[in-house]
Amino acid sequence: MASPISCISILIIPLLVTFLFYDVSNADRPLLEKVCKQTWDHDFCMSVLLSDPEGLTNVLYRLGIVSTSVSLKIISTVNGEVGNFLVGVTDPVDRTRISNCQTYIDDISDIMQLAKNAAGSQSYSEEAKILASAKQKIIDCDKQFASPPTHVSPIVDHTHKIAMLINISNVIVNMLLSS
Ligand SMILES: *[C@@H]1O[C@H](CO)[C@@H](O)[C@H](O)[C@H]1NC(C)=O
Repeated sequence: MASPISCISILIIPLLVTFLFYDVSNADRPLLEKVCKQTWDHDFCMSVLLSDPEGLTNVLYRLGIVSTSVSLKIISTVNGEVGNFLVGVTDPVDRTRISNCQTYIDDISDIMQLAKNAAGSQSYSEEAKILASAKQKIIDCDKQFASPPTHVSPIVDHTHKIAMLINISNVIVNMLLSS
């Protein structure tokens, strides 16, 4: 017959292990929450930062690098999607505008690489300037559709996604600058 002690151990040990792991993975969440609640879209921000295992960190400096490097990957995917979409567009006005946006998005990829480098070397005011120029490219892309002949941008979901990514890195860099 099992001793009372081993009975208790059988009950307690799994609980303890669960508690410890639960505690470790949740210990890193407050920083993510603090960042993401300041962004455009909290859930999008959480999914972006958690898509890299390194995103589960309580070091803001590292989160800044994760944010820019995950953004680079997503922007590259978005760029491909815009390219695929353009294939089916026949309206000449939209074609020109979307092609211009592709150029802007190419530029944003280069700019995000610079932002990632600046994040890595902790040049935060430099990074803030770099991110501002990326944000301007999205504004320039969207602006074309607002001038006559006014069209609803058919790629607004894509440009919005990029703007949200830039917003996340911006929030982080602002926190780093004010800490
Ligand atoms: C991020 O987006 C939110 C919501 O649009 C906005 O309030 C905030 O100022 C933006 N933050 C930065 C640093 O751009």
